[in-house]
Amino acid sequence: MSTLKASKPRPVLVLSHVSKNYELDGITIGAVNNVSLTISEGELVAITGPSGSGKSTLMHIMGLLDRQSQGKVTLDNKDVSNLSEAEAAKLRNKYVGFIFQQFNLLTKTSALENVLLPTIYSDNASTSADKQKAMKLLTSLGLSDRFKNTPGQLSGGQQQRVAIARALINDPRIIFADEPTGNLDSKSGAEVVEILTNLNKEGKTIVIVTHDPELARSARRIIKVKDGRVVEDRLK
Ligand SMILES: Nc1ncnc2c1ncn2[C@@H]1O[C@H](COP(=O)(O)OP(=O)(O)OP(=O)(O)O)[C@@H](O)[C@H]1O
Ligand SMILES: [Mg+2]
Repeated sequence: MSTLKASKPRPVLVLSHVSKNYELDGITIGAVNNVSLTISEGELVAITGPSGSGKSTLMHIMGLLDRQSQGKVTLDNKDVSNLSEAEAAKLRNKYVGFIFQQFNLLTKTSALENVLLPTIYSDNASTSADKQKAMKLLTSLGLSDRFKNTPGQLSGGQQQRVAIARALINDPRIIFADEPTGNLDSKSGAEVVEILTNLNKEGKTIVIVTHDPELARSARRIIKVKDGRVVEDRLK
């Protein structure tokens, strides 16, 4: 009985009837329309769909970067639908890691300090344990000799690996990546795909928005979005 229970995947994130409308000059744009879905622990999910279909908006709502207009969002069994900006920031920092197409690193800050940023937001200062962990993460991503480099002194692939280390530093429950290979050449892109796949094999829950067929192929579950709606949600 207990083994059966243990093998059942636990939901990390649940969206129920989530919509997001933008109002511009009296016109309402329905960016996300009545989306319900569950992301379970250990999943690697690819979200695909045409430009403007609402993928990034959906991901921002899932990662508490933006708030839905209607519907309910549950993260780790907590109702996070109506948090204040400060509460959302706190939970985001603790539970969520983000990887963006443009890397979004601080340009005048070293690789090591960029990785440590989320620890500063959560404890007001990084501890020496945080620093050890950041160095370990950068080393595991092949950047042991680049701690002091600023983003401008790193290649695109290296910058994205710094961003991955930053996403991992607080041991998030879920990692969101929005077109993480979009600005990379095919070799660096393949490396990022391999890193994300390996993280998932180690148990990380990962949601990736992508147009990259190779990246979408690496996911076991593919959610297709069109006009703000989920039009397909399948396991391979
Ligand atoms: N802040 C905003 N104000 C008004 N409309 C917006 C805003 N952000 C997004 N939209 C609109 O919402 C829709 C969904 O945008 P979104 O960025 O989620 O698409 P996407 O699927 O991520 O596209 P892409 O593949 O090009 O990144 C689009 O029609 C877009 O113009
Ligand atoms: Mg987008």
